Amino acid sequence: MQESKNIIKYYFAQEHFKLIKGDTFRVLKKFEDKTVDTIFADPPYFLSNDGITCSRWENGNRNKGKWNESASLKYKHKFNKKWIRECYRILKYNGTIWTSGTLHNIYSIGMALE
Ligand SMILES: C[S@@+](CC[C@H](N)C(=O)[O-])C[C@H]1O[C@@H](n2cnc3c(N)ncnc32)[C@H](O)[C@@H]1O
Repeated sequence: MQESKNIIKYYFAQEHFKLIKGDTFRVLKKFEDKTVDTIFADPPYFLSNDGITCSRWENGNRNKGKWNESASLKYKHKFNKKWIRECYRILKYNGTIWTSGTLHNIYSIGMALE
């Protein structure tokens, strides 16, 4: 990984490992084009809607925070295209991107990757 010179305060740093805490849309912009080997993303699932979920065999609250609230397909797709566009800009040509998702966002992510 080769970040630009204007980066960044590290949240944690060791010789071969650095952790940056921040807004994805700001942090990714600091990386030079085609410099990253691998990206793993776990973006918002947009699934919180006052419903319930099964957690450790009990009903649990599905509301995780503002970032995870249900949203329109248009909003989700705009969001997903925005971060994926930045990922493609910084990934090397032979780089790899992995992402997790749920049915609430994974099809939009798939389309955005296409
Ligand atoms: C599905 S969760 C990932 C949780 C993570 N894998 C973990 O174990 O803590 C999505 C995360 O994206 C974060 N998030 C949402 N918008 C973001 C943004 N613009 N920049 C950075 N993180 C963001 C949320 O705060 C949330 O923690």
